[in-house]
Amino acid sequence: MTEPDGVRLQKVLAAAGLGSRRACEELIAGGRVRVDGTVAVLGARVDIATAVIHVDGDRVIVRNDLVYLALNKPSGVLSAMSDDRGRRTITDLVAEQLPDLDQRLFHVGRLDVDTEGLLLLTNDGELAHRLTHPSFGVLKTYLATVPAPVGKDVARRLRAGVELADGPARADGFRVVQTQGEHAIVEITLHEGRKHIVRRLLAEVGHPVARLVRTTIGPVRLGGQRPGTLRPLSRGELAELHRLAESAPADAR
Ligand code: URA
Repeated sequence: MTEPDGVRLQKVLAAAGLGSRRACEELIAGGRVRVDGTVAVLGARVDIATAVIHVDGDRVIVRNDLVYLALNKPSGVLSAMSDDRGRRTITDLVAEQLPDLDQRLFHVGRLDVDTEGLLLLTNDGELAHRLTHPSFGVLKTYLATVPAPVGKDVARRLRAGVELADGPARADGFRVVQTQGEHAIVEITLHEGRKHIVRRLLAEVGHPVARLVRTTIGPVRLGGQRPGTLRPLSRGELAELHRLAESAPADAR
């Protein structure tokens, strides 16, 4: 921290994108800002390295050394920060696109090497830990290409739960998005994070996966983001992720 007594709260909020300093003073005066759980007053100063700030109940990230990125992982890239066999990893992708980023990033969960789609990267170890903890179970959505036709009973079986080698597993949602000749694209939503879970679930109901893309993690959507690219998470996405993490069961904190 550069200022020994902390930085004025309205300056911190304005720098975090909440509006002009004047608008941020009004937020504070209106009792809408909490610092470390206590309603802040005008004139308050904060240590941006440690302060936990909420506006209208939403966490606001004020540390400028924290990085939160969404990656559209292409097939063939390992969900690992390094590989002793020299294969291409997400560290290589980050280094190519953000060569000046001098930060060690964690990936929030994994995708198989041949699975594509949304992966979150951050140097916020606490958030990464909470979101990946097995008891946490953030909802994720995948699009899978499988052999057609997909029978009407498949959705019911997946929602009811099927027995896998390492125990039962179930989908929270399942629908056929489109059928084209011998292939169908299905959308499956689940809280589960076990290894190869979508491939194993769909194989178990007779539909081995030919292609798998993760399209959402909680509030974050892949949308039209191009394969291999990174983008910073929006303030809204971050606030939602922190809200989810704060509601995590005690053993995931
Ligand atoms: N389920 C899978 O089978 N593979 C992934 O990469 C993610 C979820």
